[in-house]
Amino acid sequence: MKQNEFIQLLSQNLAHNNESKLRTRIYLAIKAILPQLNLQSDFKCPSTRFLSEHLGISRDTVEKVYAQLEQEGILERSKGKGTFIKAHLQIEQLPSETVEYQLPENTEQLENLFFDQNLNFFADGLPEIRNFPFKKWYETEKNALSHYGLNIFLKDNTTGDNLLCQQIAQHINLTRNTQISAEQVLIVNSTQQALYLCGRVLFNPNDKIIMEHPYYSNAYQLFKHMNLDLKCISLDREGLKIQDCDDIQDAKAIYVTPANQYPSGIQMSATRKKQIIEYAEKNNSYILEDDYDALLLNKTQNTAILGLDPYQRTIYLGSFSKYILPSLRLSYLILPKALIEPFKRYRNYIDGSAPSQYFQVLLGNFMQRGHYAEYLRQMQQLYLKRYQAFMSCFEFYLSEFCFMKQHHPSMQVACYFKAEIPNSLEKALVKGAELNNIKITRLSQFYEYDCEYGFVLGFSSLNDTEIKLCMKQLRQLIHNELARLI
Ligand SMILES: Cc1ncc(COP(=O)(O)O)c(C=O)c1O
Repeated sequence: MKQNEFIQLLSQNLAHNNESKLRTRIYLAIKAILPQLNLQSDFKCPSTRFLSEHLGISRDTVEKVYAQLEQEGILERSKGKGTFIKAHLQIEQLPSETVEYQLPENTEQLENLFFDQNLNFFADGLPEIRNFPFKKWYETEKNALSHYGLNIFLKDNTTGDNLLCQQIAQHINLTRNTQISAEQVLIVNSTQQALYLCGRVLFNPNDKIIMEHPYYSNAYQLFKHMNLDLKCISLDREGLKIQDCDDIQDAKAIYVTPANQYPSGIQMSATRKKQIIEYAEKNNSYILEDDYDALLLNKTQNTAILGLDPYQRTIYLGSFSKYILPSLRLSYLILPKALIEPFKRYRNYIDGSAPSQYFQVLLGNFMQRGHYAEYLRQMQQLYLKRYQAFMSCFEFYLSEFCFMKQHHPSMQVACYFKAEIPNSLEKALVKGAELNNIKITRLSQFYEYDCEYGFVLGFSSLNDTEIKLCMKQLRQLIHNELARLI
């Protein structure tokens, strides 16, 4: 490697690097080209003077970049000799050979657990992140840092950051007609973790759990994996048919998604919610209320089960994943007070502590400043418009092949194949789509019996033009696969 080759590589990388701060750009560019250097012997870097003149920047900037890289052990600087990259420097681990392990059977079953989320298609469960008020988020961060100081970087072994728990309690009381206190909130990483905790703290293998059918497959697979005895009960227009559960004695829990049943989109009626509460009281069961998607609900007619339950049998599962930034990984449980301590203990046992204190504090402050509520209001309007755009496109592009059952404004919709469409289209479509890097959420994965076929389409992360483009693409895929099948 010659110095001019090094500079050429660096200049090429800089041309594609749009980092705003010059020093960071050069630093990142040098790090990025390291794996391409392929050094057989130690390489002497251009001097700071030479490089700065060549790039047309100040020598001080190059000096600072070199100093930073030296601190990281990437460069070695020797007085009077120059700056070197050592030939043995290993920047990237070579991929090691894949070793095949024989996994226990139940671990292999986990393959089915998560449906994929692809950003560019009808990804199910994704919010719009392009509109997120990042400026307000950064301002909040700056303030929180100066206010909290270094404490923000410590681990949190409590039930969660006080301010965040208070803000969640306030928000849920306001929007879901509940009356909870901040002490009842336990912060976790995900609904999945919340369900896992329910499984570990409350249930024993072979305990009976009543679930909706079709079901949220992540919950179903997890509970199956825990060897729970799952009773999948079908739905009518009012939600889970609890009237069919009379002969299921001693069910330990009833897991429901009443605000917007996943994946069917059925909203549970107030009467059915009350019947479920009475059933739980009579059978000494818990109710696990997964309120993952209540953003677009008509709230006045749709109180959460938690708000109707006088017996404290309800464990409420809430998540920020669909409302703000899914990568925050912040969800929460609202628990009857008696369960807080055992749940917290178990969460700390499996996870060491609550999720990142840093993000908890930021989110708590973000909510306190009113930014969260304001953002949700904007998102409500946006998602409603997208729902309408989706519906009109659906009519035009897809109604020839599929239909919808009960649905109302929400962030995703289940589409069922019409009777004349072969069920095998679902599998063929998934395979065909894969060739275009598209992942389709299959409807049949949510059924244990009386399977229905089709797909679940999430559109909240797509604007109107994107919705149309995806519809066209899906229609084309369906045409291609049908031509192959028929
Ligand atoms: C039924 C259901 N529950 C919960 C969630 C949220 O999950 P998490 O908090 O693990 O991101 C989703 C995600 O979209 C969901 O579809």
